[in-house]
Amino acid sequence: MADLPFSESEYLTRQKNVIEDMPSESVLFIPTNPKSIRSNDVSYPFRASSYMLYLCGWSEPDGIFVARKSSGKWKTTLYVLPRDTKSEIWEGIRVGVEGASQGWPVDQAASITDLEKDVMFHIQGCSEIFTIEGLNNELDKILSDVDTSDAKKLIDGHRVVKSPSEIELMAKAATLASNAHILAIESTYPGIGEWQIQSIVEGYFSMNMSQWSYPSIVGGGDNATILHYKENNCIIEPGNLVLVDAGCEVEGYASDITRTWPVNGKFSDAQREIYDLVLRAELAGIDACQPGSPWISMHRATSRVLAAGLIELGILDCSIEDAIGEENDFNGPYRNFFMHGTGHLLGLDVHDVGGGRQGDDDPGPILKAGMVVTVEPGLYFGSWRNDVSIPERYSGIGIRIEDDVLITESGPVVLTADCPKEIDEIEALVGSNR
Ligand code: GLY
Ligand code: MN
Ligand code: MN
Repeated sequence: MADLPFSESEYLTRQKNVIEDMPSESVLFIPTNPKSIRSNDVSYPFRASSYMLYLCGWSEPDGIFVARKSSGKWKTTLYVLPRDTKSEIWEGIRVGVEGASQGWPVDQAASITDLEKDVMFHIQGCSEIFTIEGLNNELDKILSDVDTSDAKKLIDGHRVVKSPSEIELMAKAATLASNAHILAIESTYPGIGEWQIQSIVEGYFSMNMSQWSYPSIVGGGDNATILHYKENNCIIEPGNLVLVDAGCEVEGYASDITRTWPVNGKFSDAQREIYDLVLRAELAGIDACQPGSPWISMHRATSRVLAAGLIELGILDCSIEDAIGEENDFNGPYRNFFMHGTGHLLGLDVHDVGGGRQGDDDPGPILKAGMVVTVEPGLYFGSWRNDVSIPERYSGIGIRIEDDVLITESGPVVLTADCPKEIDEIEALVGSNR
């Protein structure tokens, strides 16, 4: 096998688990992601589809993984770009058909130029055809006249619980992201630019042959109250907090971590009150990551702490029941300041498959040993808000604390535990590398 992140037997087990769920006469087509144009003849860096990485580790552009099942047995084929010296001189050396057949966990490889004629052959006699639409125009066109089923439904359930070797990679990604945050905290000073913190974090990723798993969020002061802030182009004034939500990938597996700290190294009383509340909520959320618990238990745990704290601080003037809203609803007025979900599954995608996202129709999975989730409560008091009343004392504060948590039979294990989050630890660390 080529130098892939997992053993051949691990890939073959994944394939078997998926294909066993298919009808006895059926076929599965998994295209990888398309290349995407940035401008004229410049493409964005290519990132293979997580489904492709999961099933066979193929990371070049333009691959299609096919599993044809017949009489209950199956054969896998990987369609790849053939070797072509003229293109390779410009774009890099390809694995090619022979390389793919020898080094990748498939029964055979073929040229992608044979796809059209082979698809007709593969789909003949099938009672069900599985694919992922919208990624490969040519495949979509060829399959446009037949009924297809969504292959994601077949695969997602298998991706949710991570194997020991997946967990090892995720722990590496978590440690890298933790170290990047530590370096950023140590290097912070009043008046630093958000982009400078971004470059410290992402520079650390690059130095370690990694890259971000989603665009880094570096928001100072009010910018921390914009949940998907990504401009990262403001100076952070002395006395303000900075929120950094940044994670990286190792062999495609994501980490996702948020820390918030004062640029001058000392939380103000108001900042400290909110930080302490978010931290207590986060710890309660982590405690709720127990095998057998319903997905909502994390959100219940963080929400109760936040709602009670908002009342205690005088930000909400109501009973805890009214603050939270109806049980299982959790849509009370505390949501004016905590607008997102408590967490999500983490894996090959930063918002990984398996449900549990805010706004999903289904109630999310039951937590199981081997799942990796984020726990990320926050409170946001944008001074620019005109829809709610915010005490002047807290105006302009945005705080989120996010860790990556592995669920085990004996409870939660925080993969990002290397990165400090207690107030004293944070204050001691800010600027200590200058
Ligand atoms: N960074 C995206 C998230 O925290 O979900
Ligand atoms: Mn995040
Ligand atoms: Mn997250």
